[in-house]
Amino acid sequence: MKVFITRRIFPEALLQLERHGIDYGMNTGPPLERPELIAKVREAEGLICLLSDRIDREMLEAGKKLKIVANVAVGYDNIDVEAATELGIMVTNTPGVLTEATADLTFGLVLAVARRIVEGDRITREGRFSGWELDFLLGTDVHGKTLGIVGFGRIGQAVARRARGFGMEVLYFNRSRKPEAERELGAKFVPFEELLQRSDFITIHLPLMPETRHLFSAREFKLMKPTAFLINVARGPIVDEEALVQALKAKELAGAALDVFEHEPRVHPELLKLENVVLTPHIGSAGRETRIRMALMAVENVLAALSGHRPPNLVNPEALA
Ligand code: NAP
Ligand code: GLV
Repeated sequence: MKVFITRRIFPEALLQLERHGIDYGMNTGPPLERPELIAKVREAEGLICLLSDRIDREMLEAGKKLKIVANVAVGYDNIDVEAATELGIMVTNTPGVLTEATADLTFGLVLAVARRIVEGDRITREGRFSGWELDFLLGTDVHGKTLGIVGFGRIGQAVARRARGFGMEVLYFNRSRKPEAERELGAKFVPFEELLQRSDFITIHLPLMPETRHLFSAREFKLMKPTAFLINVARGPIVDEEALVQALKAKELAGAALDVFEHEPRVHPELLKLENVVLTPHIGSAGRETRIRMALMAVENVLAALSGHRPPNLVNPEALA
C-alpha cells in the first residue's frame, strides 16, 4: 500500500489513483482508533486525510516512509506542520476550489439568522403558522446594512462580492491591506475595533492559528452593536464559545450563526437552547461538485509528491530544503 486514505473519498478521486497505478488502502468504516491509524501511517508513503483527523507529531514520526500528508480541506490546523517540516514531510491543502461554495454558505447563514428562516421552518412544520400578521416573526433587513469581514483572503473577498449585490457597505479587517480588492469590491479597511463597533453583520474567514484563537471573546462582544450578528464559517476556536453564550444571554449582540464549533463535533449545550442562533454541522464547502474537486485536488498533490515533483498546493516548502 503506497497511499492510505483515512475516510471515504469519492470514486472519481480513487479512479485517479488507479489510473496512475497507485496501490491504496481506504478506511470505509467509522474513524480509526489512533493505534490503528498509526499502524496505517507506518506503512504509507502518502496520507490523504480530513480536517477531522488530528495528525500530530507522534503520528508523523511513525510515518517512516511518509512523504506527503494531503489534507482534503483548505484549513490545515489539524496537522502539526512544524513537525512535518522537521521530518521532511510535505503538507498540502485544497485552496480556491471551495471558495465560492463557502461564501455561498456564509451568505446563507447571514440571511438565515437575520430573517429567522430556520425558526420559521420550525414554526411552520409544528403547525404554529396561523395566518399572516404584520408583526409576525420579524427579523432584521440584510440589504443596505454594514458587513464587517474579518479575514479578507479568498473566502472573505468572495463574501464581499455577494454583499455588493445586497447593497451592503463592506468593511474588512485583515493582517495585510488588500488595495486591489478594495478597489474592485469597494471594501474599506478598518481597524479591528472599529469593525466590531460599526458592523451589523460580522463574518469570520481567518485560519486558526495561535494569534486567532479566541480572537472573539467577552471584550469583542461588548464592542459589538446589540443589534449585530456574528457568523463564523472559519474555525470554532476563533470564537470563545462560552463568552459567546454569555454575550448572547446578556443581549450584547442580536444573534449568531455558526458552521464550526470550539470542540467539534460537540456543540456548547447552551447554544442549542437559544432561538437566535443558527447552527450548521461544518458544511461550508459541502456542495457535491466542490467536495469532489477537493478530493481530486488532494489526489493530485499526492501524485505529484510520489512522482518526485513539488505538489501544487504545498504549504510547507521548507520541508523540501
Ligand atoms: P485565505 O485566502 O488564506 O484567507 C485568510 C485570510 O486571513 C488572509 O487574507 C490572511 O491575511 C488573513 N489572516 C491570517 N491571519 C490573520 C490574523 N492573525 N489577523 C488578521 N488576518 C489574518 O484562506 P481562505 O481560503 O479564505 O480560508 C479561510 C479559512 O476558512 C480557512 O483557513 C479555513 O479554516 C476556513 N474554512 C472553513 C470552511 C467551512 O467549511 N466552514 C470551508 C473553507 C474554509 P494575509 O492575506 O495577509 O495572509
Ligand atoms: C473546511 O473547513 C476547510 O478548511 O476546507
